[in-house]
Amino acid sequence: MHIAFVASECVPFSKTGGLADVVGALPRALAASGHQVSVYLPRYRQTKLTDAQTVVRSITVPFDDRYRFCSVVTGGGHSGVQFYFVDYPPYFDRDALYGTPNGDYPDNAERFALFSRAVLEASKILGVPHVFHCHDWQSALVPVLLRTQYAEDPAFRDVGTVFTIHNMGYQGLFPPDILPLLTLPWDLFTISRMEFFGNVNFLKGALVESDYVTTVSRKYSQEIQTTEYGFGLEGVLRDRAATVTGILNGVDYDEWSPQADKFIAARYSPQDLTGKAKCKQDLLASFDVTGADPSTPVIGIVSRFAAQKGFDLISQIADRLAREEMILVALGAGDKPYEEMFQRLHKQFPRKIAVKVAYDNAIAHKIEAGSDMFLMPSKYEPCGLNQIYSLKYGTVPVVRATGGLDDTIEPWDARTGKGTGFKFTEYKGEALLLTIKEALRAFRDQDSWKTLMRNGMNKDFSWNASAREYARVYDRVRLMRAGSSSQVRRNEAIDLEPITH
Ligand code: ADP
Ligand code: GLC
Repeated sequence: MHIAFVASECVPFSKTGGLADVVGALPRALAASGHQVSVYLPRYRQTKLTDAQTVVRSITVPFDDRYRFCSVVTGGGHSGVQFYFVDYPPYFDRDALYGTPNGDYPDNAERFALFSRAVLEASKILGVPHVFHCHDWQSALVPVLLRTQYAEDPAFRDVGTVFTIHNMGYQGLFPPDILPLLTLPWDLFTISRMEFFGNVNFLKGALVESDYVTTVSRKYSQEIQTTEYGFGLEGVLRDRAATVTGILNGVDYDEWSPQADKFIAARYSPQDLTGKAKCKQDLLASFDVTGADPSTPVIGIVSRFAAQKGFDLISQIADRLAREEMILVALGAGDKPYEEMFQRLHKQFPRKIAVKVAYDNAIAHKIEAGSDMFLMPSKYEPCGLNQIYSLKYGTVPVVRATGGLDDTIEPWDARTGKGTGFKFTEYKGEALLLTIKEALRAFRDQDSWKTLMRNGMNKDFSWNASAREYARVYDRVRLMRAGSSSQVRRNEAIDLEPITH
């Protein structure tokens, strides 16, 4: 089957978060199991292509004011996956992908509408897939266009669409006059389609028009159907609950494993943990933490700094946390208030809290390897990848029991020797502090701590199982589109086996 991924970021070409890791790895896993996979991405300034060849010279994208003309270049084939980049420098040759620390680029609707239209037009030349698999609001217009303006295009007659929600917190909300600018019909501006409290909501469009909707963990697929986590779209998801499912993200262990990692000071494995101490030393040195007792537990954080990640809880408990025997090292960038908060905490507790405000892949790897614990107190977390990476590095996750964090971390029980980490449920500083203290206490018994580390290191979250589940969704969508079976109707559930790790 031919599947075309449409997404706004992908490792190694562009990245701001976990979406890039997923779009970098899932296509490869699908290709390895025999599917034909193409990936369409924007060509940003940060996209480094060694051998870019233009494969479509000019695509006309209509806008109300004037036409724009973009091209498509190929990034070649990698591990059986074909990469294509929509090239339109006025929109994509910029410092960042989506905006600056002061906010989103004001023309994001135009940028990603151009991208989505260009992908459809390019695919008619480069090969129409059986299924378009789109990710997050930036590619949400693909299913919308296919079911509206392109509905009568014979090239797309049987094409299916799968839409994966990586984060309900980002919806692509724009004022109504964006519709005529993008030459989209006003009949999309109804409550049952893209209208959302007086604005146009790209994500809502995809949730309504896609054949199947997936999200990145089972727990999150249930949470987003509630008011607490649905960001106003819970009703839309509930209406089509039979065709919404959660498929847990996998991990690319070629990139994220202490046995293969090229960024860390020493390699180690569950059989031989000795290298981890060297990684800890190296980590502390790169954060300029000197004179620390090697037995002091180090708690790591690698994160986008955003409200989603729960760092206001850390600010609530910082002074009490700083009294504990531990060192917190945090790497992150994003929203100004959180950057400032961590910098303030470092000033206040220089020997206890160390911070780098940056986006730095090498340091991210060093934190995974050199920390004893990894902290993710997220307010919500669709899947979360860092806690899964941490398991492989024997770095014990301390997480809030939400979304993928809840699905991937099992609570440690010292009596049975079972479990992989520590979790708390209530979104309160107090609950976080109690759980960190519990982890610090457990750390003192190094023998049982090693059991806990190895429990995590021996887990397997590779992509194979999840790629198989996606393949079943694609099969189902193709059947739905072909209408070949009276059993298969738009609103019929697909009974996916839960992934058990
Ligand atoms: P999200 O996609 O919500 O940011 P995930 O846990 O799914 O969260 O994925 C985050 C990814 O981005 C991980 O690969 C992580 O290592 C990386 N990352 C996040 N912040 C930084 C940073 N400041 N420097 C380097 N890598 C980062
Ligand atoms: C999002 C989510 C994160 C998830 C990632 C990849 O950015 O915040 O939880 O792991 O996408 O699916």
